[in-house]
Amino acid sequence: MYNGRPNMAMIIRKATVEDAKQLHKMMLAGLEDKTSEAYKANIERFGIPEEYVRRVFSLEALTKAVKDPKQLFLIAVENQKLIGFVQTIRQNETTAELDRIFLVPEMTGKGVGTLLLSKTLETLKREKFEKLTVKAGRDETQARRFYEKNGFELVEETSIQAPWGRELRLAIYELEIKS
Ligand SMILES: CC(C)(COP(=O)(O)OP(=O)(O)OC[C@H]1O[C@@H](n2cnc3c(N)ncnc32)[C@H](O)[C@@H]1OP(=O)(O)O)[C@@H](O)C(=O)NCCC(=O)NCCS
Repeated sequence: MYNGRPNMAMIIRKATVEDAKQLHKMMLAGLEDKTSEAYKANIERFGIPEEYVRRVFSLEALTKAVKDPKQLFLIAVENQKLIGFVQTIRQNETTAELDRIFLVPEMTGKGVGTLLLSKTLETLKREKFEKLTVKAGRDETQARRFYEKNGFELVEETSIQAPWGRELRLAIYELEIKS
């Protein structure tokens, strides 16, 4: 349950091209601070080259993502400020993959991630999806706890070769979308 301040207006909705601009600025600003969660979560822990992350959060890539019919891109907005987002990508008729979920650090642990996830599931259910998968870093204890608390089940622990040439130790989770 969202347990932020009760009089705050927080909404979750589909991201627009305008939102992509705000998100682009927010993520790049986050990367400027090497001690930030945005930097640690995206670059440090997975050894992802900064250039690669900058490309993922470039205005072009984000604009393309919000327009992509295979993706469900939701954002959380509080008092007109973007505070988080979740991106899922259709894999086939029945399965979607949670590609990214991220909240600004000051908004973590208040139920917003759970809310973003449940709105995603509502939409996926309407669209007849049966399964949501996610790949978490094996050592990402907090993210793994978040997925497990939200009903995801561990399918396997594995390693893959990342496009930037490093071995990634992953935990693969699945959540059955009940109709
Ligand atoms: C992971 C994340 C999306 C979870 O969303 P959230 O709103 O913080 O989580 P909720 O408040 O809905 O749920 C709380 C549970 O999530 C887990 N959790 C994960 N990260 C947490 C954080 N930074 N702070 C508090 N709880 C966190 C805990 O298990 C917590 O429950 P508990 O305190 O009873 O153990 C969010 O913390 C985040 O964006 N973290 C940084 C980026 C990241 O790790 N993304 C996922 C991998 S791509």
